[in-house]
Amino acid sequence: MARVLLLTALMLLLLRRAPGAGAQAVQDSKPEQPQDKVEVTAGQNLTLNCTTSRNSFIPGPVKWLKGWGTGNETIYDQTGVFPRVTRALIGSDTDFTIRIRDVRPEDAGTYYCVKFPKSLDGDEPFLRGKGTVVSVRAKPTRPVVSGPGRRQKPGQSVPFTCTAGGFFPKDITVKWLKDEAQISAQQPQITLGRTNSSYNMASTVTVTLQEHDVRSQLVCEVQHPMLTAPLRGTYQLRQALRVPPSIRLLPDPPSPVEVNKTVNFICHVKGFYPGDVTVTWLENGMQMKVEKISRPEERPSGLFELRSQLEVQATERKNGSVFTCRVVHDAQAPDDTKTTLRIVDPAREGLSGRSQTGNGVSVLSSPGLWLGILLEKGLLGGLLIFLFKRGRA
Ligand SMILES: *[C@@H]1O[C@H](CO)[C@@H](O)[C@H](O)[C@H]1NC(C)=O
Ligand SMILES: *[C@@H]1O[C@H](CO)[C@@H](O)[C@H](O)[C@H]1NC(C)=O
Ligand SMILES: *[C@@H]1O[C@H](CO)[C@@H](O)[C@H](O)[C@H]1NC(C)=O
Repeated sequence: MARVLLLTALMLLLLRRAPGAGAQAVQDSKPEQPQDKVEVTAGQNLTLNCTTSRNSFIPGPVKWLKGWGTGNETIYDQTGVFPRVTRALIGSDTDFTIRIRDVRPEDAGTYYCVKFPKSLDGDEPFLRGKGTVVSVRAKPTRPVVSGPGRRQKPGQSVPFTCTAGGFFPKDITVKWLKDEAQISAQQPQITLGRTNSSYNMASTVTVTLQEHDVRSQLVCEVQHPMLTAPLRGTYQLRQALRVPPSIRLLPDPPSPVEVNKTVNFICHVKGFYPGDVTVTWLENGMQMKVEKISRPEERPSGLFELRSQLEVQATERKNGSVFTCRVVHDAQAPDDTKTTLRIVDPAREGLSGRSQTGNGVSVLSSPGLWLGILLEKGLLGGLLIFLFKRGRA
């Protein structure tokens, strides 16, 4: 130990006295990194070479650092525990080559082989190799397609974005398909990832939604040199779509109802997506209790349909009542469809013209029919008289 200190002291003296010679000595004992650049595939092993001159007389440990200055990271030194790192030649005092197992994208960076000379005073002049730039070839992550924050109606142009990350090198191609047919998209945006070791990609496509897109699918296909087959991200367009229902209140047009008969109103809610719908009935603005609750049914088109029936006793009191079918689709504003109940009293109507209903009673008012009946009766009478007379004869 004393010898080491003595040597260091001598060395420092040398540096002070003869700057030229000293600088030369320092140059000679700098760790040698023969690799400028190394490219390695994620998951494989990385070898980083470093040698120091045999006749280096400066004592001190040799370490591997990743990065320099703030944010540097000790990759290997002779004392610590580094599970993924081993020395190629254990115990060598000139070869400090290391191997890093199972390389990850975040291992990318510049690696320095550094000699830390033991000095008497605090400020340590580092002897550092020129650095080896390591890049890690990595496949992109599975692409993810995202749509709008909320559902959009048919006819609207909606952007969809495909993202994938963690890939190296930068070369990536993105293809969009809608139901297996290619659609054009903007150039993908490629940015450096958080750790500066890999790239991220975002590609946007604009689709004008259609009603039938309830059954459509978007595909984002990513190709990269590290992939043997393209990666696909999918998006079901129905996730982005809201097709409002068309509503019809039957009977349409409304027809008058005979007093005390039952009338069935049907609210026909058609062609909507998603299937989330509630139908309520109101009588003169007051909510009614309905026993028959029908569920939305999915049609082959992928759109939903529902029929809600309301049975009403057409008492005279209900004449002129307004019935409303209120549809709330997918938490949107309610959509009201109204009809007015008209009640007719055949008995009373009969006194004043019997024009509306084609029942048996009103038919009797036809003179032609009366004539027909008279003729029929007359003929029958004649036949009876004829038969009677013949019987007596
Ligand atoms: C490495 O980082 C530490 C802490 O940020 C710093 O104190 C040290 O000087 C750095 N070393 C080198 C060689 O840059
Ligand atoms: C209808 O029903 C009510 C109560 O049941 C009865 O009072 C009324 O006479 C009925 N009207 C007709 C036209 O049948
Ligand atoms: C129902 O009201 C209409 C118009 O208000 C009227 O013409 C009709 O006679 C009424 N019917 C009955 C059965 O009262």
